[in-house]
Amino acid sequence: MINIPKGTKDMLPNESYKWNYIKNKAREIARKYNIKEISTPVFEHTELFVRGVGNSSDIVNKEMYTFLDKGERSITLKPEGTAGAVRSFIENSMFNEPMPIKMFYFTPCYRYEKPQAGRLREHHQFGVELFGATGTRADAEILMIATDFYKSLGLTPKVVLNNLGCVECRKNYVQKLKEYFSPQINEMCEDCKNRLKTNPLRILDCKVEDCKKIINGAPKISTCLCDDCKNNFNNLLSVLNSLKINYEINETLVRGLDYYTNLVFEFWDDDGINKAALGGGGRYDNLVEELGGKSTPVVGFGIGLERLIMYMESKNIVFEQDKRLDCYIVSMIDDDVMILNIAKNLRDNGISCETDLVNRSVKSQFKYANKINAKFTIILGEDELKNNSVKLKNMDSGEEIFVNLEDLVNKIKEN
Ligand code: HAM
Repeated sequence: MINIPKGTKDMLPNESYKWNYIKNKAREIARKYNIKEISTPVFEHTELFVRGVGNSSDIVNKEMYTFLDKGERSITLKPEGTAGAVRSFIENSMFNEPMPIKMFYFTPCYRYEKPQAGRLREHHQFGVELFGATGTRADAEILMIATDFYKSLGLTPKVVLNNLGCVECRKNYVQKLKEYFSPQINEMCEDCKNRLKTNPLRILDCKVEDCKKIINGAPKISTCLCDDCKNNFNNLLSVLNSLKINYEINETLVRGLDYYTNLVFEFWDDDGINKAALGGGGRYDNLVEELGGKSTPVVGFGIGLERLIMYMESKNIVFEQDKRLDCYIVSMIDDDVMILNIAKNLRDNGISCETDLVNRSVKSQFKYANKINAKFTIILGEDELKNNSVKLKNMDSGEEIFVNLEDLVNKIKEN
């Protein structure tokens, strides 16, 4: 037997309703905010992620699925959804359209990570990117979209926020971090040593206990923010207060991708069942330009669907089932033409139905109809069909009636 690759998961037919439920909620939120769907390829040129996600990120350094295709091009399976959306925005000249451009996506993402609960090598994200708007209203709107989505699923994860400042603030902060960490860097892990050279901000994200102790004493970003950055952030906080979005500020939140400027945020489980964020995002005002487009501010988020399902299951949240099957055709006759034409007529009229394909006995056809929770069974018996009628059984009430074949569709639709 060939097994599934490590760190990946099948979505099984009997679990798919959970995915449908979540995706339907996401689409409903997108409709309310007038956000349109985008779909970009699963693979892109490697350079897009190296330049987009950033050379100093773990994703680019350690986790990408990169290979040469038969034309010797370096290709990478997308590790996240933002870079592809930005590439498409630029390539399709969307900056010529009226702003903002709001897009959402469902995408598989590939990261060569150490698999564990909630950490997969293939995961899926629901993401939203809001192009062409800067300022408090856009930042608040992106947080509203995400929190509304969680709320529609019965969840209220903690919103953790930080402000990484503009390019100028960041330059000053990185300088301060270098000055602080350099004398102690030999007591820190190898990753931190590298980060000091490539991107000192990322040191703040280190999970190694000894490093954490040193990180606790590091200067805070808030000490380096310019007046504009400070005021914008304070504005956002007061809007969030008025919208009753519960947040917490965490000055060590830097996120694992290099493209962020100013606002960054993550959504966290409130009782620590997951040791990883349920979703995250932020503002990235320089990425479009860095990837060759016209300077365009953007803010967005990505929410991992597998972690979301795990979280909902841990909270015993009930996922709405897919629509129930309208009817199951129990046949006592062996007449393919008759059975399949009745089924076709029902389906042509929008009624879902199943009929026996595996030669079950009549008794097991009823049992099966029960098991699959059909609303009705239609019983095709020889005598009834001579009179052009069938027996229609309501599986909930047990009520049985004879119905003329011509009236069958209407009778089922009436209920
Ligand atoms: P990210 O924080 O790397 O951000 O991923 C977003 C979410 O995807 C995570 O919070 C988590 O729910 C899920 N996720 C990430 N890695 C894994 C994994 N290995 N296994 C399972 N779930 C995972 C981004 O990807 C950004 N593109 C988000 C964004 C959009 N920022 C701005 N716009």
